[in-house]
Amino acid sequence: MTQHTESSIGAGHIRVEGPLKVTGRARYAADHGLPGMLHAVPVCATVGKGRILGIETGVARGMPGVRKVYTRENIGRFPRVDESAAKLDEYRPPMEDDEIRYYGQYVALVVADTLEQAMAAAAAVAVQYDAQTPDVSMDLAPDDEPRVDTERGDAPGAYAQAGIRIDHTYTTPPETNNPLEMHATVAVYDGRAFTLYESSQGIVNHRVAMARMLDVPEDSVRVVTEHVGSGFGSKLWPWGHSLLAAAAARDLGSPVKLVLSRRMMFHNVGHRSNTSQRVRLSATRDGRLTSLRHDYLFHVAMDEYHKENCGEATGFLYSTPNLRAAYGSARRNIAPTTSMRGPGAVPGLYAIESAMDELAIELGMDPVELRLRNEPEQDEAAGLPFSSRHLRECLLQGAERFGWARRDPRVGSMRRDGLVLGWGMAACSWMAVRLKAQASVALRADGTARVASATQDIGTGTYTVMAQMAGSVLGLPPDRIEVALGDTALPPGPTSGGSMATGSLVPAVLAAARDAVRQLAACAARAGLPQLAGVAADDLRLTGGRLHGAGRPPSSGVPFQDVLRAAGIERIEGHGQSEGSDADPRAKRHSMHSFGAHFVEVTWEPAIARLRVARVVTVIDAGRIINPRTGRNQIEGAVVMGVGMALLEETSYDSRQGAPVNNNLADYMVATHADAPDIDVHFVEHPDTVLNELGTRGIGEIGLAGVAAAITSAVHHATGVRVRDLPVKVETLLQAQSAD
Ligand code: MOS
Repeated sequence: MTQHTESSIGAGHIRVEGPLKVTGRARYAADHGLPGMLHAVPVCATVGKGRILGIETGVARGMPGVRKVYTRENIGRFPRVDESAAKLDEYRPPMEDDEIRYYGQYVALVVADTLEQAMAAAAAVAVQYDAQTPDVSMDLAPDDEPRVDTERGDAPGAYAQAGIRIDHTYTTPPETNNPLEMHATVAVYDGRAFTLYESSQGIVNHRVAMARMLDVPEDSVRVVTEHVGSGFGSKLWPWGHSLLAAAAARDLGSPVKLVLSRRMMFHNVGHRSNTSQRVRLSATRDGRLTSLRHDYLFHVAMDEYHKENCGEATGFLYSTPNLRAAYGSARRNIAPTTSMRGPGAVPGLYAIESAMDELAIELGMDPVELRLRNEPEQDEAAGLPFSSRHLRECLLQGAERFGWARRDPRVGSMRRDGLVLGWGMAACSWMAVRLKAQASVALRADGTARVASATQDIGTGTYTVMAQMAGSVLGLPPDRIEVALGDTALPPGPTSGGSMATGSLVPAVLAAARDAVRQLAACAARAGLPQLAGVAADDLRLTGGRLHGAGRPPSSGVPFQDVLRAAGIERIEGHGQSEGSDADPRAKRHSMHSFGAHFVEVTWEPAIARLRVARVVTVIDAGRIINPRTGRNQIEGAVVMGVGMALLEETSYDSRQGAPVNNNLADYMVATHADAPDIDVHFVEHPDTVLNELGTRGIGEIGLAGVAAAITSAVHHATGVRVRDLPVKVETLLQAQSAD
């Protein structure tokens, strides 16, 4: 029976860690200070390609407070991590050789008593290079033959014969993740074991990777991540600075803190590749897709490979008998790429959904209607039924909430208060995957419970939803549940990535809570409490923190702490674990994804060339929402990030030495509060019980997918200009205007 406490699944409980954050007591990685702690500052290459001829460290070594300057000569060798053991985006350990592959690559490390001394000495390290001109070209001629993601029927043949065709290429620039909190490591070595205070989205993997590179057993590395000021994918896998800090701490016998600068965040912790995507669509007059081709390219770093999987949703989003998605990559002297929120699908859906809008215009058909007509019965790429797909409902509800029926499709035809209005829409999708996870739930003699798992809360609400999950079984409100996470000493939990953490924690936390209740019942039966006399252990239930006989009111029972006291024990700890969906036969028989639809209003003031995103309605099908407050917040943040993607974000590289030139938050623009539109988020809640018993899928990323296409479609509706190269630039809109 559902408990109507604030811990119930579906209750909008405020963040349990909120008070810590708003009072400044939440400790982030760089907040950890330890006695005798030293400060490390890396020296970054100032050329984008070439070879180190020599490094002059004498001046730096003689500067005040400097403990040591490390280069390839004295830092030692780090074994490379095998890809099957742990995931990294840059497998090459820092300073492994003298070759420079990208601007900003670590070439030396200075450790000093204070940050200022380390910075001054790092600036005094003189590196001599044999420099060459780096290739940071944004043109994407692929290095190899295309590789096919998915193919069915004969897309080229069907396209060739079709009467109605769309063939356009869409490009997206490199984007830099830019979480608010800098990447940081505070490394402690006690002569045997390491403790690494990290800003990480995946501490379990981080521990394995660090243990391998430091060449110590895994149980000699503990990774602690109490709070994360976001990561957007850049903190999924370990980067070189963590290894540098740990190695220096071991060598010097003192704790070492290394915090990246914002500048370094542009070349040492990943970014989203640029993409170029050619989309070919053909359709019948009545708007049925006869073929879909998606050929996409992206850049990768010189010796590392990260696939920007733009084709993620291409195979199953729409029904069509003929389809082909294929990709290629081009190596550049640009720092390693990584996942950025909604990797692959986000640029991919910008292209696919833009092309669908262009097709709707070609057909003279409403873009919502075009999507509805191509709704598939099943996943036509995998040949599997969807576990739960309600895109149709998202489209219809979104249209209704937005007022889409009032849209006049003629370009520039809609006005309000002297502004030209543009209305656009797009669909979106994101994968649903359950990772293997473990959790523990303890009942304690003071009447509180503790739920624990070595996962992370990257700002998304994991602390809160873990309390709700445990509370839903124990019948306790969140203020009686302590949540422990972000520590590899806890049972191994999921990575906070791919929108997978919450859905992965569900089975493990519920099983752990039920195990605790079972143990409590057995304990009560043994203790022979008079209130529970004659009730078998199997017939005992825990409600609102009281153990009672099934079918009898909770008030007839005993608070669980009294049971513990009677039994003379301090705590009971239950354990739970679950396999990932890749090892679940039922999950493997289904195609599991979340879906959604965005409706966008832009305003355009031609006289002063001002474009704004004014209003967004987003309807998301992500299964059951555990906490609508933190859930809505995820989608709102993602939509704002979509405004940034559409209008602002672009990393630019200097062709002379390969430096990211806008390597700061003044020149690299992200959307701010002033750019944020009015956002109406709505969830259609259809529990997806194939993924887990609560039916909850992830929501961290889907809100970003499709937003840019909805915005550029709205821009077209307002101005008549179709922007196929992000971000939308005012000068593009003006040029088109003056050409009229
Ligand atoms: Mo997300 S890009 O998987 O952190």
